[in-house]
Order: sequence, then structure tokens, then C-alpha cells
Amino acid sequence: KLPQILTLSNGLSLNDNLYSIPVDLDMRLRRLDLSNNFIRQLHTLGLPYLEQLDLSCNQLDLISEKAFEKLAQLEELNLSRNALNNNLGSNSKALQSISRLRSLDISMNSLNDEAVELYLRNKSSLDQLKMTGNSLTRLTHSLFKESTGLRAISIDDNLITDIEQGTFEPLGRLETLNLAKNNLVYICDFKLHQVKYLNLSRNSVEFFVTREDNKLYRLEILDLSFNKLLYFPIVPKINRLRYLYLQNNMVGAYNSETTMISQVNTLYEEVLSEDGNAVEKNNIHSNWRMMPVVYIDLSYNHFRSFPLETLSPLSSLETLDFSHNCLQNIIFNITKDSPFGYHHQILFPSLKYFDLQSNGLVHISSLFLESLTQLETLNLQENFVKPCAPTDPLGSSQPTNPNTSCVAFWKIRTLKHLNLKQNGIKILHPKTFARTSLVSLNLARNSDMTMQAGALQGVQRSLRSLILSEINMTSCDLSLPCMPVLTQLNISNNQIDFIPSSLSCAPLREIDLRNNNFVSLNHSLINNLSEHLSVMYIGGNYFNCCDNEWLTILNKMKMKVADISHAECIANGKYIAMIDYLKNPSVYCVFHTQTPEVSTGQAIIILLFVSVILTVLIMFIRKVCWHQRSFLV
Ligand SMILES: *[C@@H]1O[C@H](CO)[C@@H](O)[C@H](O)[C@H]1NC(C)=O
Ligand SMILES: *[C@@H]1O[C@H](CO)[C@@H](O)[C@H](O)[C@H]1NC(C)=O
Ligand SMILES: *[C@@H]1O[C@H](CO)[C@@H](O)[C@H](O)[C@H]1NC(C)=O
Ligand SMILES: *[C@@H]1O[C@H](CO)[C@@H](O)[C@H](O)[C@H]1NC(C)=O
Ligand SMILES: *[C@@H]1O[C@H](CO)[C@@H](O)[C@H](O)[C@H]1NC(C)=O
Ligand SMILES: *[C@@H]1O[C@H](CO)[C@@H](O)[C@H](O)[C@H]1NC(C)=O
Ligand SMILES: *[C@@H]1O[C@H](CO)[C@@H](O)[C@H](O)[C@H]1NC(C)=O
Repeated sequence: KLPQILTLSNGLSLNDNLYSIPVDLDMRLRRLDLSNNFIRQLHTLGLPYLEQLDLSCNQLDLISEKAFEKLAQLEELNLSRNALNNNLGSNSKALQSISRLRSLDISMNSLNDEAVELYLRNKSSLDQLKMTGNSLTRLTHSLFKESTGLRAISIDDNLITDIEQGTFEPLGRLETLNLAKNNLVYICDFKLHQVKYLNLSRNSVEFFVTREDNKLYRLEILDLSFNKLLYFPIVPKINRLRYLYLQNNMVGAYNSETTMISQVNTLYEEVLSEDGNAVEKNNIHSNWRMMPVVYIDLSYNHFRSFPLETLSPLSSLETLDFSHNCLQNIIFNITKDSPFGYHHQILFPSLKYFDLQSNGLVHISSLFLESLTQLETLNLQENFVKPCAPTDPLGSSQPTNPNTSCVAFWKIRTLKHLNLKQNGIKILHPKTFARTSLVSLNLARNSDMTMQAGALQGVQRSLRSLILSEINMTSCDLSLPCMPVLTQLNISNNQIDFIPSSLSCAPLREIDLRNNNFVSLNHSLINNLSEHLSVMYIGGNYFNCCDNEWLTILNKMKMKVADISHAECIANGKYIAMIDYLKNPSVYCVFHTQTPEVSTGQAIIILLFVSVILTVLIMFIRKVCWHQRSFLV
């Protein structure tokens, strides 16, 4: 093996049950990958050109003091998944002797605060540092004092409860800071102007407060998901925040938005011990308003009312995930005392994607819908929303009586994708979605829903995808117009037994007919559809094998029946796999495909029998007629 190694001067990977570093390595090596071996000790390496050394996933516990001394070019060192919590004296001397390092990974080494501090000395060139999965508990200002050039630090998955003032502030180049999966409880005074990415996910953070100043904070991505936040974070006044992750917290647990806002303002004053004259100030809103945020995830929080006043100033907001909260209605009730004044025209001028899945929503006010002037995607799956008929005089301005309130989708002209799965909708009135720009519509799992004729009127020319599965519909409940751009249709899990012939208008590419009551399919329709159809699902029906013209067409057109191996059909009262049937149709459907065969012998006997009967019959009739005639005479 060795001669081969010697010829490789640029990069070399040896992942081969090694227990020690091979001698006779080529002096000119620049990259050496010794990860996933059983190496326990590292002694002086004579590789003066080596730039990258990967020793991750070994059993390294001893690095001799002079091990790295000759590695004058070493820039990247990966020591993750070893046992460097041992032999601190010798290991730290070795690590301190390489000040040229740009990237160091010491993740998963069971390192404590003291060990890390020793290992990070003399690291003035260090740019990237990974310390994931160690046992750090407290970060102090002395930790990074000899590695102030750091740009990216990951200390996720440790046990940090405390960060001393001055730990990260001196790191002027720091952009990326990952502190996820620790035990931090609050961020009282966020001061890191330089940081662009901050991950605090999966801690126990209850609040996040930034003192208001007039400095620019470069923060773009803030992840506070999976914490215990009760309020929105108080972000820097001048910031560049674009992505805000707040999912899986307890924001919204206060009864009203007003209570929450006054609580968070009080908190701000307490935490920063501001004096009384700040009381009038609405800190959260004044800073919130300048935020260029495009994405907010507020799913899995505790909102019972929609925080209109807090979210509406976010004029750049494009995506809002508000799924899995407890909203029952969204009312448009701006009060006179609100920071904007009641005459303020509320708009969400950039919102394109709005997720409200699983809230228990019954009512959404028309005024609110009108404020969504750019909305394209609305997910209302698993709510109790009923679409209004456009003629409904009650409209959705009705108060929150679940029996009468309905949602006026035609108010959202820009709407393209609407998910109304599982809302308990019973009836779809004519022109329900008229004036929207619907491209895809999901109405699945609205048990026993009836579509009135014309329900899709107004969107039949724009709809490309329609899902009507799990409704328990019969063919009579299904009324579809001609849809000239529809390419996807799912009517699976219903009780449908024929496809509406209006579908011959549609350039369908995918159709799902599974679990219905089909016995046969209209072959001329299938013939029409076959021009565009590329995938079809047909399993779980009661197809008659012998009524098979459509099958012949499918077979001929080489259409892809995705679940053909699960599909069955009935012949002679028995279910048989459609695949078997297609291999040899004549075996199963003898009487339907050929005229009955009768032998000549049988034919003569039948002929004789018939003529005898006929003769007898004629004689009998004559006799009766003769008698009757004699009476008449
Ligand atoms: C170090 O090696 C581990 C395991 O091989 C890998 O997951 C990690 O990304 C490497 N670290 C760096 C900074 O490349
Ligand atoms: C720091 O590193 C340089 C070489 O990069 C070395 O000369 C010096 O001795 C190191 N300092 C300590 C305290 O190890
Ligand atoms: C933050 O860290 C968590 C946990 O490691 C990770 O799942 C999440 O994707 C990170 N967030 C961002 C915005 O990168
Ligand atoms: C809604 O209708 C049900 C029965 O249909 C009735 O018991 C209930 O009182 C009604 N609720 C309201 C708020 O009118
Ligand atoms: C059609 O809807 C059902 C749910 O009823 C789903 O399981 C199936 O995957 C959908 N079909 C396609 C092709 O997506
Ligand atoms: C579907 O409708 C039939 C009658 O049309 C009814 O017997 C059955 O219980 C319904 N199933 C569901 C799941 O609603
Ligand atoms: C079969 O579909 C065609 C349209 O392709 C339609 O004209 C015809 O009436 C349909 N036949 C039946 C029996 O539904």
C-alpha cells in the first residue's frame, strides 16, 4: 500500500482501521484525511506543506506538545469526536503552538469551560470555530480574548446558562453565532451590532431585549424558536432583520394584544432600569416598524387573537406562518388608542404567503381580507371556515356566530393557492371563488360536501390543480365545469362512479381515482384525456375486467398507471389482479369477447326440438281458430 501513498502529494484519505499515523507520508502532502480510524496518540508530524488535517472520529486523547510544531502551513484542523478532555497540559500546549489556524473543530470532546479556554489561546488568525456538543456552562470575557478575529462560532448543544458581558462584544468580525440547544433563560441586553446570524433556538429564553440606541445592528436572521418567549422580542431600533423564527413559544398567551404590549413595555423598563419618563413609549412598536423583515414564523404559539397592530407595520413582510395557534376569528378592531390611531389604514402590502392551518378559525372579517392586497397563498386547513355565496347579504361582515358567519374569498383578488382541507364545509355555492386568481384549490376531507352547479364559476379558466378527495361525494354531488388548464385532479376516496364528461376539456396530466365506485371508465373520454395524461391512479374500485375498452386504450397509449400493481378488477365474480388480467385478457372474459360456440350436433338437436314445438303450436292454434269461427257463423 505504501508506495501508492507516496505518489499522492496533494490530498490523501486513509480511512482504514488505522491505530496510528502512518510513517513515510509524502512530505509534500497538503491535505490529509485520517478521520474514522482508531488513532489515540499524535506525535510530531513532519509535513511542512500540510494545510488541512482531519482527525475527526478517532480516539485521540493525547497530542504531544510538539506535534504541530513543523506544520508551518496548517490552516484547517478537525479534531471533532475525540477524547480531548484528557491530558489538558500537553494537548493545550500543542494547540497553542499553532497560531496560523483559520478553522478549528473541537466538537464532541466532552470539553469543559477550562479546557476550551486553554485550547483557544494564541489563535489570532482563527476565523471559524466549532464547539458543538461539549460541556460548556458559562462563557466569560477571557474565553475569546486571544481569538478576536473569529467570524463564525458554533457553541450549540452545550450547557450554557450564562454569558458574561464582554464575551462576544470585542469580536469585531463576528457574523455568525450559533448558541442553539443550551440553557439560556434571557437575553437582557443584546449588544452585538456586528452579528448577522444569531441562533438561540431550543434554549429556555423567556425574553429578548435590546436597549434602544441609534446604532445600526447588522442582524438579519434571528432564531428564537423552541423557547419560552411570552412576548415578541424587542429588536434593535435600526436593524436589517429579514428572517425571524419564533415558532414553538408561548407568545400570545396574554388575553389581548394591548395587555401584551403594555407588559413588554414594562419589562423593557424593568430590565434596562429606564427611568419613569420612558413609560409612555411603546418600545416594541417603535422598533418593530423599521424592521425590513420578510419572513416570520409564529407557528405553535398561544395566540387567541391576531396581533394586528404589531404585525401590520411590517411593510416588507412576505411570509407569515401563523399555523397551530388558537385563533377563532380575525376581527378588524383597531382602537382609537392604538399607536396608529383608528383611522389608520391597515394593510399588509407585501404579504404573499399566509399559513393559518389548525387554528379553529370560524370568522375572518372582510376588512381584514381586503388588507391582504398581494396575498397569493392561503392555508386554512383544519379550521371551521365556511365560504360565503357572493350573493349572501350577510357576507363575512357578520359577527361571530358560527352558524351564519362565512368567509368572502372573492375579496382576495390576488389569491392563487387556497387550502380549505378539513373545514367541515357542507355546501359550495355558485361563484364562491369568483374574482380570485385561483390556480390550486384543496377541498379535501370536507365530509359530505355538495358542490352546487357553478361552484367553480369564475375560476374554471385559471384552475390547474383541484383536490376533492375524502369527501364521500357521489357523482351527483360532483359538478365540474370545463376547465381548460386543469392538469391535476384528485377525486380519490369518494363514491364516484363516472367521470363528468366536462373533463374532456381539461389537459389533465395527473388524475387520482382511487377508492371510488367505478365499474368502468368512459373509453371515449379516456381516449380524449390520453393525449396529456401521464399518471393515473385507479386502485380500490370495482372495475369489471370484461367491460374493458378503456383498459385497451390505456394499454395502447402506454399511459402510466402508477398503482397498476395494486389495482384489481372483477371477472366471473372474482377479484383478479389487473396485471394478470392484462397479460391474457381472453382467459378471463371468454363470453364477452367471442360469440358462444355451439357444436353442430347440439344445433341439430335444438333445431329439431324447435320445429316440433312449432308444429304442435300451429296445429293447436288452427284448431282453436276453427272452433271460434264456427261459433261466429
Ligand atoms: C469535522 O468532521 C466532522 C465529522 O467528520 C464533520 O461533520 C464536520 O463538518 C467537520 N468540521 C468542519 C469544520 O469541516
Ligand atoms: C503562538 O504561536 C506561535 C507560532 O504560531 C508560536 O511561536 C508561539 O510560541 C505560540 N505561543 C504560545 C504561548 O504557545
Ligand atoms: C438554529 O439551530 C437549530 C438547532 O440546531 C436548527 O434546527 C435551525 O435550523 C437553526 N436555525 C437557522 C435559521 O438556521
Ligand atoms: C347554531 O345552531 C345550533 C343548532 O343548529 C344551535 O343549537 C346553536 O344555538 C346555534 N348557535 C348560535 C350561536 O346561534
Ligand atoms: C389524493 O388525495 C389522497 C388523500 O385523500 C392522497 O392520499 C393521495 O396521495 C392524493 N393523490 C395524489 C396523486 O397526490
Ligand atoms: C358516506 O356516505 C354514505 C351514504 O351515502 C354513508 O352511509 C357513509 O356513512 C358516509 N361515510 C362517511 C365517512 O361519511
Ligand atoms: C363519454 O364521454 C364523452 C365525451 O368524451 C361523452 O360525449 C359521452 O356522453 C360519454 N358517455 C357516457 C356514457 O357518459
